Amino acid sequence: MALDVALDIGTSHTRLATAQRGVLFDEPTMVAIDTNTGDVLELGHGALELVGRTARHVVVFRPFNQGATVDFDVTARLIAALFDRAGVSKLSRARVVMSVPSLATAIERRALRQAAIQAGAREVSLVEAPLAAAIGLGLPVQDPVGSAVTLLGAGASEAAVISLGGIVSGGARRLGGNDVDAAIATSLRINLGVVVAPSVVEALKCTLISALGRTNGRREVVLARSVDRGELVEVEVSADLVNLAARDVLNSTMRMIQECLSDTPPDLSQDISARGMTLVGGQANLPDLDELVATSSGVEVSLAAQADLAVIVGLSACLEEMASLHALFRSADR
Ligand SMILES: Nc1ncnc2c1ncn2[C@@H]1O[C@H](COP(=O)(O)OP(=O)(O)OP(=O)(O)O)[C@@H](O)[C@H]1O
Ligand SMILES: [Mg+2]
Repeated sequence: MALDVALDIGTSHTRLATAQRGVLFDEPTMVAIDTNTGDVLELGHGALELVGRTARHVVVFRPFNQGATVDFDVTARLIAALFDRAGVSKLSRARVVMSVPSLATAIERRALRQAAIQAGAREVSLVEAPLAAAIGLGLPVQDPVGSAVTLLGAGASEAAVISLGGIVSGGARRLGGNDVDAAIATSLRINLGVVVAPSVVEALKCTLISALGRTNGRREVVLARSVDRGELVEVEVSADLVNLAARDVLNSTMRMIQECLSDTPPDLSQDISARGMTLVGGQANLPDLDELVATSSGVEVSLAAQADLAVIVGLSACLEEMASLHALFRSADR
């Protein structure tokens, strides 16, 4: 029997699920490729561990940035390797349901679809990521009632009001957790004269940040490389420095949410006032972000449990729905 696959390729993480086995893969969007042979050597965590430790002919790629593929061929190889992991053979020609950011251009959508087909998919359906997330949350997306979702990822941020199966009003930016990390890294270099490993920058963000600036003088000591002398040094990083660096991205995110809500037709606005908005995506876990969104938007805000999995859970639900519809066709086909 052909396997159906749900696939959410993100700037930082890729998630794959099948209707039968649930989420099978949730790892960094990274692929290590032997450039002599073109073979994929490692994926996800395995590829991440190889960064900075490979021979010259092995290159670790991050084929996604700002929610879009920046390397078509590597993306196709990544998808093919993921199909392998899921036990989908090239011959079985899987049906694939994939997420795409609502801000993706026609060319980006076509590239994603083609990459999956090159990897062996038979049929590719794209679902806009905020809609997939709303389905994953179990919101009544098909009903004539407004549901508000804000999806905050590593490379894209999207706010959407959904009703009758579609996005009625939305706002989106090619901006996310990666940009917060980049701003923190720049601030560390300028203010403390050090370069810090990306994983350490991300850890500093998760432990020190407060979207409301509630820092209470917190500090963390980390190992860094001095820009001047190139030696390893210990530096103390304050929560204030991290918060200040994140401010620009957070302000832009708040403006995006306000734009989305102010474009919403009055009847649906009433629904959102009554039912609130849910935050999803990895960056939604940023401490105090839910409170910041609530105060700046004036609607009630809740943070989804397992916020980073909402999209893949929604895509899996689409798969199940597809499978049951196909069963319906089969039963009438006798
Ligand atoms: N507890 C946390 N606090 C703050 N940020 C977090 C936390 N957990 C994860 N993040 C951030 O969330 C981002 C990853 O989110 P997610 O997995 O939704 O992104 P993605 O799907 O790969 O990207 P995109 O969909 O934007 O292309 C990263 O930038 C990560 O640093
Ligand atoms: Mg995502």
